[in-house]
Formats: sequence, structure tokens, C-alpha cells
Amino acid sequence: FVNALPMPSRIYLDMGAALTMPIKETVQWTGLRAPDGGEILTNFYGFEHQGAVTSPGPTIIARSNETVHVEWQNQLPNDAPYILPIDLTLHIPDLDESTPQFTGEKPVVIHLHGGHTEPESDGNPDAWYTQEYRSAGHDWDKPVYSYDNSQEAAGLWYHDHVVGMTRLNVYAGLFGMYLIRDRNEDRLIDGAIIPDDGHMLEIAIHDALFDEAGNLYYPGRHGEPINPIIRKEIANNWPDPTVLDEFFGTHILVNGMAWPKVDLEPNRYRLRLLNGSSSRSYVLEFDNGMDFFQIGTDGGFLNQPVRLTQLVVAPAERMDIVVDFTDHAGEQVVLKNLGPESPFRGFVEPADPAGSTRLVYNRGGGLALIDGSDGLAPIADPESTGLVMRFDIGEEATGPTLQAENFGPSVPLREPLEVLANPRTVRQLVLFNLRDDIGRTLVLMGTMESGSLFYMDEITEVIPQGSTEIWEIYNTTAAGHPIHIHQVQFEVVNRQEFDGDLAFRTQQFMNDPERTFQGATLDFHGLNGDPIPPQPNEQGRKDTVLALPGQVTRLVAHFDRPGDYVWHCHIVTHEDYDMMRRFQVTPNS
Ligand code: C2O
Ligand code: CU
Repeated sequence: FVNALPMPSRIYLDMGAALTMPIKETVQWTGLRAPDGGEILTNFYGFEHQGAVTSPGPTIIARSNETVHVEWQNQLPNDAPYILPIDLTLHIPDLDESTPQFTGEKPVVIHLHGGHTEPESDGNPDAWYTQEYRSAGHDWDKPVYSYDNSQEAAGLWYHDHVVGMTRLNVYAGLFGMYLIRDRNEDRLIDGAIIPDDGHMLEIAIHDALFDEAGNLYYPGRHGEPINPIIRKEIANNWPDPTVLDEFFGTHILVNGMAWPKVDLEPNRYRLRLLNGSSSRSYVLEFDNGMDFFQIGTDGGFLNQPVRLTQLVVAPAERMDIVVDFTDHAGEQVVLKNLGPESPFRGFVEPADPAGSTRLVYNRGGGLALIDGSDGLAPIADPESTGLVMRFDIGEEATGPTLQAENFGPSVPLREPLEVLANPRTVRQLVLFNLRDDIGRTLVLMGTMESGSLFYMDEITEVIPQGSTEIWEIYNTTAAGHPIHIHQVQFEVVNRQEFDGDLAFRTQQFMNDPERTFQGATLDFHGLNGDPIPPQPNEQGRKDTVLALPGQVTRLVAHFDRPGDYVWHCHIVTHEDYDMMRRFQVTPNS
């Protein structure tokens, strides 16, 4: 913890504001040093604001129901190598083959994750575009996106979403935070119930690997040392570069700096946590065991603050927390990570008779009959990936300190959240862990009837506009998958264990019927035990939820915006290799 936490600049946008956000290649210091002590710079893709190109990009702060316009202007160089290895066998932009590895035009498309956004501005994976819109995907519609921010105060984030390349473009740096404000939040801040913007910190966490020259490293070639799980004899048939099962880095970056520290006053702070990692879930706690309060989820404020000492944050989830350092003057407090070095495998179980629940993590899970795996996952290294950042608390607060009595577990943060009622449909959706024809992991989704489907297979989720639906996600794999649905902020209804077998069948590749592999359907046997309510800090609006292994995770969502959208796993290595499906909301008239 030697370098200062970088703070993204903040851009406040009002009704009608128009913002141009150039996307450029840049170099940035992540804290690496050469043996002689000099700073080693790393290539990134970032966003330009006031002359500086940064990753993460600036934090955009907009107001609820005030439309703003953003042009995410692609200025990635057309004459430089793409900075990461691209697997050309995936469904990726069909750019000119004369530019292998995209040494020429480079595609981007920015999605506002968590946004209740019109389809033309949603940053659909096939709405990618290159510099000056010279080439564009078949869903590309227009250069300037409109965000009407028709939702309550929430912490969203923007990130790249290019089909088959999201894992690369996001890792390369194309992400940032986007906060929506509303009157209720003004009330909480003005009433000194929650900290103001001067006492708010963006905390965007992701993991990275570096090569010896300090460049971002992305394992994508067989024989590379990083993923010991790959069986070499199989890997020899793999394309080079190839997508791999998952990505786990050796360095933990916060706002782009490895293991930073920040000087704070002995006061109360609001931390806007974002897990921007490819595959890693964090289990966060402070080294002094102090508690903190979660006040908001992906989609808005919780009804009341939830007291916690530990927090599980899956890829793409955001957590709005309040930490009180008032009694820690002069102390150094370390934020630790106890999460696994593998996809999160946990399950929620009832914790006490009063009906509260807790997440049990780092244990085997899933249907043993399907995967056979029940081992303990390796856990983060306490000296490296087990550390996130440090808070150095000064001796005295210079600013106003918030009164302790203003805030606590019984303070209402909002009008109680409306329960989404009268679902029209219950959809049964299934997650499958399969192997492609050359032995690579291929995690697909589909319906109970259809079994495993590719991203571009026929749309099975066709939703009449205005419907409320329950989606049941049956996870037959051994890992937790953070499932994200565009357009909506849903409620987690419950989770429940189930039994079943996979029935395998020969399935063709979507775009190459010559190639076949073993696809699957779920032969469902039944539910086990009682439904388990969501954890207290999941009882707000969410757009991303951990579908835990061996359980069905039930959500309820209201779809009021017509158009084509996607839902997918947010382990982006999975997403890029077809763990994504389109859905369609059909207009009323
Ligand atoms: Cu965070 Cu479809 O994305
Ligand atoms: Cu996944």
C-alpha cells in the first residue's frame, strides 16, 4: 500500500446535457516499478476528459428522469496492434480479415450497465463500431446515445460490450462509473443522514496480470503458465490465441492502481464499490473486523441500512456502503479479500430461525452427479490477491462530522420498495457447463425445454411490453454465475436447491453445422427443501445476481421498454463464448 488511490474526475450532467467521451489508447501507471525504482507504464484503453485519458473513465453523475446525450467516440488507433490477444474463432465483429488480430480498425461499444435505456442506446454487443463509424455491427443504430435516466438513484457503470471481445476491451480499461441522483438521495445527503460527495469514494476493483515489460497480460495461448487447470494434451488443438475458462489476475487494482492507500479523516464515508473484474468474486472485510452498513444495491437504496462485517461482491455487482472511521483516528485499516481464486461457489442457507440468511462461500456446490466436483476452491493469497487497499485515518476531522444518531439500521432510506406483483409468466432457464468440440469449456444457457443454446440461436424470451415475469435460473454447473439482465432492475425472490440429471445430445455449432459437440437439456427431478429468501443486502433492486450452483435462483422483473436486449453471465470469459442470450420485448400497439 504505497501509492495513492486515484480518484476519477466527476462529470455532473443536467437535463439535456451533451457529452463527448473520446476513447483512446493511453499509458497509465499502475504502481509497477523497475529494479532501478523507475515507474513502469502500462498500455490501456481509456476515456478522455479535460485532456487526460484515464481508466477507469470519469464518473458521470446524472439526475433521475433528466435525459443526457453521450457520444462514446471511438478514437482507438487504426495503425497499432490491438493490445490483447483475440480469439478469432468466437463470434466477433466481422472486420476485414486483412487486419488479423485487429491491427487496423478496432471495435468498441459502450453499455450503461443497470440502465433503463432505450434499445438504440443500450450498447448491444452487435452495435459495435470502429473509428468514425467506418465499420459497424448489424445492431448499430446511431452515434449519440440518449440516456433518459428513467429510474431512481443508483450506482451504475458503463463498460465496453463488443460481441466476443468484452472480456478484452473491459480489461483493457473501458469502464467507469455512472451515478444517478434523485430527490430522495438529496434528502439523505442534505439531512446529513449519509455522507456528501466530499466524503464519497469510488472504489472500482479489478484484477490484472502483467508481463515482464509491464504490459497488461491476458492468457490466451496454450502452454501459457497462468491457468494450471488446462490439460496440455487437449490444449494443443486449441486456436492460438484462445478464450480460456476464466481469468484470475495476480494484482488487485482499485481505480487503476495496484493495492493503493487513501488518507481519510476520522469520519463517516460512503464507498461506491464496483467489481469490474472478469471472473473474480471478492469476499471483503476490514482487517480490524469493523462493521459497516450497506445502503444500496445495483439498482437503488435498500429500505434500511444493513449491518455487515463481510461482503460478497460478484463481477459487475455494485454495493453502496457507509463506513464509520470516526473512532479509528490514527489507525490504518486494510480492506481484505477472502474470496476464491476460482469462480465463486457458495450457497445461501438459512442462518437463524428468524428467517435471515447467509451466504456460505468457498465450498463445493452444484449437482455432484453432473460435475463430480465438491472440493474446496483455492482461496486468495493473504499477501497479494487477499489484499485490496488501505485506509489511513488521520488524527482529526476538519470537515463536518455526521451525527451518529442520524444513521443506523432502523433509519429509513426510502419509501419502502414496491414489490413487483402479478407476474404473467414464469420462465424456467438453465445454465449448462459443457465442452466444445476441442475440449474447451463452453457454458451455455437455454430454457428447460430447449436445453443449451448459443447467443444467436432463436430468441426464446419474447416478452409482451408491460409484463412482469418470474425468471427461474437453474444452475446445473459447479460454479456461481453472476447473471445480468439488461433494461430491468429486478428483485431476487428466493433460491432453492433442486435435483436433476443432464441429458446429453449432439448439438451443432450455431454458425458451423459441420462442427458438433455434446449439448444438454436438464432432466429435472424436483426441488429440495424450502425456498431460501435473499440475503438482507440483496433485498433491493438488482440487475446482477449470483446464480449459485445446485440452486434455482428466482427473480421478478418488469419489462416496460420494447426492443431487443440481452441477458448474460457477467463472468466475461463466459459471456464472450456464448453465455449470453437475446430477449425481445414486443410493443403493445
Ligand atoms: Cu455489464 Cu451486458 O453488461
Ligand atoms: Cu458464467
